[in-house]
Amino acid sequence: MMPVFLILLGAVETLQTDLLPDKKFLLLPPMNFTIKVTGLAQVLLYWEPNPDQGQRNVNLKYHVKINAPQEEDYETRNTQSKCETTLHEGFSASVRTILRRGHSLLASSWVSAEHKAPPGSPGTSIVNLTCTTNTAADDDTNLKSYQVSLHCTWLAGKDAPEDTQYFLYYRYGPWTEECQEYSKDTLNRNTACWFPRTFIHSKARDRLAVHVNGSSKHAAIKPSDQLFDTQAIDQPNPPINVTAEMEGSRLSIHWEKPVSAFPVHCFEYEVKIYNTKGYFQVEKTTTHAFVSTTDGVSQYSIQVRATVSPQCRAMGLWSKWSQPISVGKEQKRITEWFLIALTATVCVISLTSLLLCRMYHLWTKLFPPVPAPKSNIKDLIVTTNCEKAVSSETEIEGITYVEEPLFEITESSVF
Ligand SMILES: *[C@@H]1O[C@H](CO)[C@@H](O)[C@H](O)[C@H]1NC(C)=O
Ligand SMILES: *[C@@H]1O[C@H](CO)[C@@H](O)[C@H](O)[C@H]1NC(C)=O
Ligand SMILES: *[C@@H]1O[C@H](CO)[C@@H](O)[C@H](O)[C@H]1NC(C)=O
Ligand SMILES: *[C@@H]1O[C@H](CO)[C@@H](O)[C@H](O)[C@H]1NC(C)=O
Repeated sequence: MMPVFLILLGAVETLQTDLLPDKKFLLLPPMNFTIKVTGLAQVLLYWEPNPDQGQRNVNLKYHVKINAPQEEDYETRNTQSKCETTLHEGFSASVRTILRRGHSLLASSWVSAEHKAPPGSPGTSIVNLTCTTNTAADDDTNLKSYQVSLHCTWLAGKDAPEDTQYFLYYRYGPWTEECQEYSKDTLNRNTACWFPRTFIHSKARDRLAVHVNGSSKHAAIKPSDQLFDTQAIDQPNPPINVTAEMEGSRLSIHWEKPVSAFPVHCFEYEVKIYNTKGYFQVEKTTTHAFVSTTDGVSQYSIQVRATVSPQCRAMGLWSKWSQPISVGKEQKRITEWFLIALTATVCVISLTSLLLCRMYHLWTKLFPPVPAPKSNIKDLIVTTNCEKAVSSETEIEGITYVEEPLFEITESSVF
């Protein structure tokens, strides 16, 4: 089968050669094709022109084909090419010399090279890696400077031995850094990393490469690479100085642009207005203020969040919501507190008088022989009162108190 195929291929190439003006012209493949790892998730492909090709044709180009991990092909006049790609599944590529004339293509045979996948079974490598970046104003230097932090989380692979330890590295452009601040899972394995400051630019466009490898005494731990679009993983800060004011039924809300290297016009906002009675409103705006009409009596909570608009960069994440602020008076709350205070006061007064009566045997001393029934009635009233107050509390826990410890329950639930 193979020889037949080769003959066919040869026939096609001869045919194409025939279409060219110079019939005896034959293209030779490049030489010494090499794949070199130059950084995390980064390789350099390079090759030499074939010395036997002769110098008379200046229109020679190279056709590069990436076979793994993802198929891709392109043409170049250079004899080298840089690629950003994950390397944990290995990398392989081919290159051939080509010559285009009009609509016809003359090509040499392919030469190939390979970078082998690192050892370790796939179940040992980390899963669910997510990373986000955040920009803060850099207080150490002048006002216009920002620093970008990076936070990544992951889970240990299902086949990773218990003694596995993972290590995270990132590369942004030519800079590579190892994580210094890890968080750990219950088995003491690193599962999150925090870089308070990085080399990532605050208006980054390049991709971010993250590499997590590991070690264990019992198994080879397969490393894992992931490339992130820096704009897609950047989470802006929430808007600052959020204020709200209610005049009658008019609710007006103001805020300021988040701390960010992006200018004012780059932001879009969402305003959330809600209350405990089920009122809920979310509105989008590009300005720094929002006015809404309310019932004028309820209390409302307000939060605002921000995102960088597509005018300034590819759409990324929304910020966290700002801390909730409240406007409007809550009358129901005040009534509730008043009722609770009143009940408590009544209970305390009743209990105190009961205690005093018992301690000093006042009743017995004042009316020694007969008036037992009166005392019983008074006891009964107090008991009934407090049992009612208590019963709702104890039901929550599913316990019913019947006997003596009435005093303790009442005290602990009131105070
Ligand atoms: C290919 O590499 C070998 C050995 O490194 C070298 O001797 C040779 O000159 C190279 N070929 C070309 C065309 O550069
Ligand atoms: C990890 O990711 C997988 C698939 O992406 C998902 O099904 C799974 O729920 C994730 N696990 C956790 C704990 O988030
Ligand atoms: C993990 O990767 C870094 C960066 O490539 C390397 O320096 C380090 O030796 C690796 N560690 C392990 C345990 O493979
Ligand atoms: C936010 O408020 C603080 C004080 O409350 C003020 O110093 C600061 O200038 C305000 N920031 C902006 C951007 O208005």
